[in-house]
Amino acid sequence: MKLTSKQQKMLDGEFGNAKKKSMYILNALGKIFGAERMIPVKTVQIAGVSYSNLGEAGLGYLSELAKDGKVEVPTTLNPAGMDRENWKALGISSDFAEKQNRVIDSFAKMGIQTTCTCTPYLIGNKPEKGDHIAWAESSAVTYANSVLGAYTNREGGPSALASALTGVTPEYGLHLDENRKPDIHFKVDVDLKTLADFGAIGEFIGKNCEAKIPYISGILNPTNDQLKTFSASVVTYGSKPLFHMEGITPEADKFDVPSKTIKITQSEFNKAYSDLTGEGTEVDFVSIGCPHASLDELKKVAELLEGKKVKAETWIATARPTKEKAEKLGYIEKIEGSGAKMACDTCMVVAPLKGRFKTCATTSAKACYYVRGKHGMKPRIGSLEECVSAAITGEWKK
Ligand code: F3S
Repeated sequence: MKLTSKQQKMLDGEFGNAKKKSMYILNALGKIFGAERMIPVKTVQIAGVSYSNLGEAGLGYLSELAKDGKVEVPTTLNPAGMDRENWKALGISSDFAEKQNRVIDSFAKMGIQTTCTCTPYLIGNKPEKGDHIAWAESSAVTYANSVLGAYTNREGGPSALASALTGVTPEYGLHLDENRKPDIHFKVDVDLKTLADFGAIGEFIGKNCEAKIPYISGILNPTNDQLKTFSASVVTYGSKPLFHMEGITPEADKFDVPSKTIKITQSEFNKAYSDLTGEGTEVDFVSIGCPHASLDELKKVAELLEGKKVKAETWIATARPTKEKAEKLGYIEKIEGSGAKMACDTCMVVAPLKGRFKTCATTSAKACYYVRGKHGMKPRIGSLEECVSAAITGEWKK
């Protein structure tokens, strides 16, 4: 690794302890992955914000860095373990809230924006084509690489924070064009309509892409919300946080279409869809907004819930700035009037929910994976209409 004199001074501790530790981490990472130099990043997005993932050791590490660390580039956070304002209504204990607030206060002290969301690109942290960034949340990394045309590896929490404190990242992996070539072509011969459909096709491609980068054709005019949920699913069930989609990915034309081709037919799609979902009709928890809901999704949820009352505990997760816009448009009044709860700054995966609910209805294939694995709930996947209906009746009808 060749460091500039400023980077060497950071490593030597001339800019304080936080920058010294951060440059040490990045320099070590660069050596492991064969990088030759550091490159500047435009923005950073940090994951590992929930106290339930960090614990006391993580909180201690952050408090230490916050003593003299200040970020060099605009930096945002992934969802935390609770809504910072509405945590009591979501059933979070005051002990957890106190620890979670200490985590966020440490980030704030370092100059990090404390809006906690996995959709930073919907609230102003939106990179442009060709920008190098250091993001950590897998769905956001995949969306940034594949839909926006930015360049980022899937950072861990500590390496993303190190990039925020130094403004650089080692140049390796998906920062280099030579590592972004697609290897396997998926031809989609299925008419995809709902968010759940896009989650299921992402699950199929993720599971079948053999840890390679997929090139995808046959998906016509997907919306941003569909691409958002597809990005979350394909990386959850696969591994590489990059896909090339015909007509969508800015660099898709730069590479040859891979010769190895897998055709996805309706019957394969149906099997993938049914693999996501559990059994049983009773639903006691409904989660919408994985990744965090856009304004358009909130509008649709508000229309479906207007004048109704929910029976199941229902969380609508979104970024706080998106909620504030929705509030002005009257959507939140309709949602909360039904008894459904807005969950900003958090989501059902990073909140401490284990043992509270048995079955979760959701529009998201990524949520299916995590509520099953992390919270031991049975997932039911469906369209927004089906999930809202389950919220109102407490039953899954299909
Ligand atoms: Fe976001 Fe939580 Fe889903 S971080 S992508 S809402 S699991």
